[in-house]
Amino acid sequence: MRMVDLIAKKRDGETLTKEEINFMVEGYTEGEIPDYQMSAMAMALYFQDMTTEERVNLTMAMVNSGDTIDLSGIDGIKVDKHSTGGVGDTTTLILAPLVASVGVPVAKMSGRGLGHTGGTIDKLESIKGFQVELDGQTFNDLVNKNKVAVVGQSGNLTPADKKLYALRDVTATVNSIPLIASSIMSKKIASGADAIVLDVKTGSGAFMENLEDARALAKAMVGIGNGAGRQTIGVISDMNQPLGFAVGNALEVKEAIDTLNGHGPEDLTELCLTLGSHMVHLAKKADSIDEARAMLIEAIESGRALDTFKIFVEGQDGDSSVIDQPDLLPQAKMTKAIIADTSGYVQEIIADEIGIAAGMLGAGRMTKESEIDLSVGLVLNKKVGDYVEKGDVLVTLHTNTDEISEVEEKVKKAYRLYDEKPEARVLIYDVITK
Ligand code: URA
Ligand code: CA
Repeated sequence: MRMVDLIAKKRDGETLTKEEINFMVEGYTEGEIPDYQMSAMAMALYFQDMTTEERVNLTMAMVNSGDTIDLSGIDGIKVDKHSTGGVGDTTTLILAPLVASVGVPVAKMSGRGLGHTGGTIDKLESIKGFQVELDGQTFNDLVNKNKVAVVGQSGNLTPADKKLYALRDVTATVNSIPLIASSIMSKKIASGADAIVLDVKTGSGAFMENLEDARALAKAMVGIGNGAGRQTIGVISDMNQPLGFAVGNALEVKEAIDTLNGHGPEDLTELCLTLGSHMVHLAKKADSIDEARAMLIEAIESGRALDTFKIFVEGQDGDSSVIDQPDLLPQAKMTKAIIADTSGYVQEIIADEIGIAAGMLGAGRMTKESEIDLSVGLVLNKKVGDYVEKGDVLVTLHTNTDEISEVEEKVKKAYRLYDEKPEARVLIYDVITK
């Protein structure tokens, strides 16, 4: 087999066989196929697309390019959740203990933040003592005992995807639905999920700015998951503003505690209940989505969800006193208010601008090596639909520096104010099941 023939075949719109896809992915991972040939292939795939079968084969070839996590020692159906990007997305911190509290095993591998999106592992590290590095046996034991553990990415998972993603980044081929879908799904499957709930964001702060593209991405991922024998559903949710009020590591932990307490922001709570009900249903802990939702609401109201968070934190050596005293979380030296200089209704809050503003305060990493400040970030005082009077506080910064003029400029740019009241906002646009 020769790579040049496969490139020509895809260039001409033909379908690649499983053997051909395996040849290409193995050869590329081992360094036998050079970057220039893989670049040409990525561009051909970008224009010619792939059938569902090709997408499944590409995904599985990437899964098989490295280690896979074996969760078979954990009882029950392991359901994973993945959110595509998003800013101030606190859902994993809430969902992990929430669904565990109704008996769904959560064995989650999470990443650190990069650029303007945050990472669950960083957020958890703002709890004193919290260990994110666990060996496989400890991880399995914790999930069997407490129903929940979250571990940092380790091992050599999907090296083919790492290499291909880096190549796509510099060859203008990131934004391709079959390539994004197989990239994300390969990582979920390699980390051992039996079933997968996808949270695909759409809006100005998301990968997929419009609803049609988000739907196509969700369908592509659901097609791959189901084709690979992992029951998968995709929820399409709004990212025309950051989720909840808090953006920043310790600030989001506090917001997660509030939500598990039943006092969280409305949009964040609703999205967690929606994603959580699908997780509980896929794990076969409820006969219907409605029943699952009622179980989750009961877990919040009875305090069981918060108790599970406490057990989860203690299981990983974290200081659980932060749950009753969130002031023990890292705190920035000062807060500064950003004041509106015009009046109007908030139509949109460009989420990635807010993410970048939080990053400028030190909450995000600009490169993989940079240190982050867990205490800083921002809290939105106004959300979409709110009326803002000139002089009102738009956002409260939690900062360790008073040189905030650039951050202030960014935040003001992110808020789009108009005279007319916007139409009621949709949070969940669609649920894709096949
Ligand atoms: N996230 C991924 O992991 N892969 C992509 O291709 C795009 C976003
Ligand atoms: Ca948030």
